Amino acid sequence: MPSTISVARSIPALRRVIAGFRSAGGTVALVPTMGALHAGHLALVRRAGRQADRVVVSIFVNPAQFAPHEDLASYPRRIRQDIAALAQDRVDLVWAPSVNIMYPEGFATRIAPQGAASVGLEDAFRPHFFSGVATVVTKLLTQCTPDVAVFGEKDYQQLRVVTQLARDLNIPVKIIGAPIVREKDGLALSSRNVFLSPKERSIAPMLHRVLKDCAGKIRKGRPIQGILAEGRDALKRAGFALDYLEARHAETLQPVALRRKGPIRLLVAAKIGKTRLIDNVAV
Ligand code: PAJ
Repeated sequence: MPSTISVARSIPALRRVIAGFRSAGGTVALVPTMGALHAGHLALVRRAGRQADRVVVSIFVNPAQFAPHEDLASYPRRIRQDIAALAQDRVDLVWAPSVNIMYPEGFATRIAPQGAASVGLEDAFRPHFFSGVATVVTKLLTQCTPDVAVFGEKDYQQLRVVTQLARDLNIPVKIIGAPIVREKDGLALSSRNVFLSPKERSIAPMLHRVLKDCAGKIRKGRPIQGILAEGRDALKRAGFALDYLEARHAETLQPVALRRKGPIRLLVAAKIGKTRLIDNVAV
């Protein structure tokens, strides 16, 4: 196991290291993150290690995907611990650019994704989120030129948007989705879980419980809209401020009213206190 890890902080340094990987004949996998790494991120890193010879992890808290009222300033930043955690895994390079390197003065381009980025889920509540994500992911892919890039199903809509983006822009990369890593009680691991008070933390697993319950009922063939209405009520009763609980086509994310029009994905977003949580399950 390596105890030190190479960290690139400038584009020329990044290009030099990636060129070294290439000249040794290696394939490259990229895992984009915003740091504050937890076991969910580390599962993506291990998946990346099975997909390619070299693993690059990017750590960049991307201002372009936060709205002015969102938690950019308080988003957890722990780069030293993150690098130490990655040194325990088989990671070949950490790409940790500053905001100035990613968005130098005069930067004036934004990718505007449509399709899965415009279906009334996260996009309805965070209107410039996906253009921020699409812009930074396009940059990360063109900076690191990976053969594969691994994204978590935790951010399911993001995974669909990024898959479409790579296809539409002919970026020669294979986008891989990795399953959600959960706590024992079902709560999906998230960098934002640290903000939950003990009381909120005890309520939070309800999100996954309700999703699983709704998925089971849909599988039994009961009408979807009634099941979702019950699920929404259960979440509100438990103390969540619900943004959405929806059944969508797993690829297009368009609404689906009937099970046979699937595959179906159930997606939820809700606030508990000040913390906004998202989750999803396959039906
Ligand atoms: P971040 O929230 O740090 O997540 C980085 C990656 O880890 C994403 O692909 C996300 O889906 C995945 N992930 C997070 N929690 C997970 C869990 N519990 N199980 C499995 N995977 C999980 O998503 C972003 O950063 C940013 O939007 C980014 C893509 C880096 C662009 O800035």
